Amino acid sequence: MKFFALLQLSLFTAATAATAPPTDQQPLRRPEQQQRLPPHPPPGHLPVMMGSSGNDSQVQPAVLLYDILGTQRSLTTFFSLTRMHESTSEPLSDAKTNTTVLAPNNIIIDDLPRKPWENPGDYAALGEQAYDGSGGKDRADDNMRKFVEAHLVVGTSPWEAGVKAKTAAGTEVWWETKTDKDGNEKRVIMPDEVVVDRVASRVANGEVWILNGVLNYA
Ligand SMILES: *[C@@H]1O[C@H](CO)[C@@H](O)[C@H](O)[C@H]1NC(C)=O
Ligand SMILES: *[C@@H]1O[C@H](CO)[C@@H](O)[C@H](O)[C@H]1NC(C)=O
Repeated sequence: MKFFALLQLSLFTAATAATAPPTDQQPLRRPEQQQRLPPHPPPGHLPVMMGSSGNDSQVQPAVLLYDILGTQRSLTTFFSLTRMHESTSEPLSDAKTNTTVLAPNNIIIDDLPRKPWENPGDYAALGEQAYDGSGGKDRADDNMRKFVEAHLVVGTSPWEAGVKAKTAAGTEVWWETKTDKDGNEKRVIMPDEVVVDRVASRVANGEVWILNGVLNYA
């Protein structure tokens, strides 16, 4: 059960960091990543977070997804999950490939009945002990990687309505505009019908869309 404690601690740290001033990003970084990753952002290119008064259609050409995702207070949990694996953190700092990040907000992830590291198949095959020991940690890590991959549309941004694209997990997604009961037009990710709360940022290598739900991460 050691792993659970560790993970809960890291998620707790992320949640705590969310209430800290936005410049205080240190608690989010795990020591080994601090050494491996280049300093983001480069001096003089501080990412700017778009507030509600921000012009949402403006692209910030000097900023990468990795930089901007770390400044979004409502996405700290998702951001820490993306940084656990190179396969999911690398596209965010790759200036040559555009990615649409479909990021569920902290509350959505915290409230999931099935946690991102859990898979019903593991429980079916291994029972209650599925995530104990080092094998269990590997399984949990793998499930978290797949969870993030299901929310990264690598190679597609800008992403036009109705255009079918593949997530890094290999699932096919597209989006449509629907009108909610209050008459507001919302983007909806299909086929899972997950509502996009808003497009939070547009940067050099893609866009961050904040979701009000999670996509299928089976
Ligand atoms: C937002 O920025 C875009 C592109 O720079 C511009 O065309 C548009 O008029 C701006 N919208 C508002 C509401 O300022
Ligand atoms: C990548 O995104 C940027 C910013 O929106 C855009 O200017 C550029 O054309 C995109 N590149 C491709 C290959 O779509």
